[in-house]
Amino acid sequence: MSEETAPYGGGSNPAAQAGSAVPIKKIRTHHLREMKERGEKITMLTAYDMYTAHTFDEAGIELLLVGDSASNNVYGNETSLPVTVDELLPLTRAVARSVTRAMVVGDLPFGSYQASPEQGYLTAVRFMKEAGAHCVKLEGGAEMASVIEKCTRGGIPVMAHIGFTPQSEHTLGGYRVQGRGESSDRIIADARAVQEAGAFAVVMEMVPGDVAERISKELTIPTIGIGAGNGCDGQVLVWQDAFGLRTGRMAKFVKQYADVHSVLLEGAQAFADDVRSGSFPGPEHTF
Ligand code: KIV
Repeated sequence: MSEETAPYGGGSNPAAQAGSAVPIKKIRTHHLREMKERGEKITMLTAYDMYTAHTFDEAGIELLLVGDSASNNVYGNETSLPVTVDELLPLTRAVARSVTRAMVVGDLPFGSYQASPEQGYLTAVRFMKEAGAHCVKLEGGAEMASVIEKCTRGGIPVMAHIGFTPQSEHTLGGYRVQGRGESSDRIIADARAVQEAGAFAVVMEMVPGDVAERISKELTIPTIGIGAGNGCDGQVLVWQDAFGLRTGRMAKFVKQYADVHSVLLEGAQAFADDVRSGSFPGPEHTF
């Protein structure tokens, strides 16, 4: 029985397999394209550690992104700019070791691929060899076509990322929607260029919904939106935003599905109360 046709639950969520002709054991790039062709939406979340990776895999999420957003969600930086390859590799390795079905996307950090296609390829190789990523993501449109081509030809599937690209925050003038009005031509050209260069999918961040929908209809590769409306082939969110570990002001495109911060806070306070009152550990916790 081949790996692709072996019976597999797709995690505990039967919806993870909905509509698939045969259960998918391990998500491959062709499965994502087939999902697009069937009109099935693709799900993607960030993950940076073993337990979240395992849980999201169990939930049937197709793509787990070890995002450079680890910079501001794990390492305590203000933005994604400071995080390094050496900081992201161990997180990617932990995630890759903890999934059975999801495709693990290693995110190339700022400065690790923009200098040349060779630099991009060598960095991407580290994510595949040292961390076990199944593919990489990099930011940029037409200007990154040669890097995408080099990686793809060298055996590394590439997910592109266009629209608002956080690593270019300072050239883009801050966090702003990209592709409004006449600049939609540039986003459309970027989308065409990354597909032409061989990207297997493209993330579109903070792009007007009508532009993202038009691109999604035109491209044959799947589009994954974040702040790009409902016309994309899939959606991605940063898990700390989606499940409420992070508190404070959220971007308009975030929907909060859980309140993990409150659960942890209450748990930590109850633990502290028990320790301070002497009620933990009790006899049942004592050898
Ligand atoms: O690093 C990240 O989390 C991302 C997503 C916002 C797509 O690039």
